[in-house]
Amino acid sequence: MSPLWPAGQCPLMLAPMQGLSNRMFRRVQAGLGRPDVVFTEFVRVRPGADKVIADSDFVEACATVPGVPLVVQVIGAAEEGVIEACRDLVDRGVTHINVNMGCPWGRMTSVLAGGGMFRHPDTVAPMLSALREIVPGTLSVKTRAGLDDPRELFAVLPAFADAGIDFLIVHPRTVAQKYKGRADHALVAEIVKSVPFAVIANGDVRDAPEAERVLATTSAAGLMLGRGAVRDPWLFERVRGTLSKERPTGDERRAMLAAYLSLLLDGYAQIFHGDAQILAKLREVLAHIDDEDQQKWLKGVKKARRVHDARARLLG
Ligand SMILES: Cc1cc2nc3c(=O)[nH]c(=O)nc-3n(C[C@H](O)[C@H](O)[C@H](O)COP(=O)(O)O)c2cc1C
Repeated sequence: MSPLWPAGQCPLMLAPMQGLSNRMFRRVQAGLGRPDVVFTEFVRVRPGADKVIADSDFVEACATVPGVPLVVQVIGAAEEGVIEACRDLVDRGVTHINVNMGCPWGRMTSVLAGGGMFRHPDTVAPMLSALREIVPGTLSVKTRAGLDDPRELFAVLPAFADAGIDFLIVHPRTVAQKYKGRADHALVAEIVKSVPFAVIANGDVRDAPEAERVLATTSAAGLMLGRGAVRDPWLFERVRGTLSKERPTGDERRAMLAAYLSLLLDGYAQIFHGDAQILAKLREVLAHIDDEDQQKWLKGVKKARRVHDARARLLG
């Protein structure tokens, strides 16, 4: 089996984020903060559709960045054809697969898929065992603490172990909680102690001191960073200590953001079509950048209706 990270490393992973972590975003993040592992947005298995996986999802699933392992995240249930879909992905060269068992958004998932897994825990082990036979690299699960009870996950952990998953990513909020409240990493610490596989902690890590605190208090094998990396792609380097742990402010921060956002804008112009779509994708990133002292400038960038205007405002 090809490992996802070398023994002894504490891997820092870029989270799967629907609408954000497309192939260009992953490439820009890889160039700036150098995450150890990157994830696709979730690939939805579409039962009954002509193509169970959309062509655009295959493009994303195969778009690797040299030197940075890519994990393809799938969402779907065995009944919906997720096993056949994963076989197709593997046939096209995908190595590492992650199953989303925590997504709270009903419209994008189904009764059985994503966070719905908690309603049907008996389906978990058979599905993962079948996937274990197919996936040549790591098989992992990303989940939340429960549907509405933050201890629900504990009942499912033995099924993960029986199926032989390689690692589990835990975002310690319930599905019902969506993004309210705080991620409760004390739950991650408990899970780490009770399972035989590696656990990756995820949720609310916005800066290097918080990353250190979560790693120290949970003994997790690694960290997954989502929104914190969207607002500061250098967060991985800050956590490693290869860059200042403090995010700069003022002119320095603005210059860094301008470089980051310009790279994204130029990249998005290559893979998306038309100014409206390109700028909509950029605005999804801008929505996560909340530096108070940059708001006036960023508001100007958000207002741009043409790519050349956005570029000028970024650099102006
Ligand atoms: C815009 C957005 C899209 C997301 N899409 C996905 C997804 O496709 N798959 C998934 O497992 N989690 C998804 N998540 C959840 C994140 O991967 C992560 O678990 C969550 O944001 C908590 O981590 P953070 O506090 O570091 O952002 C998404 C989160 C956001 C903000």
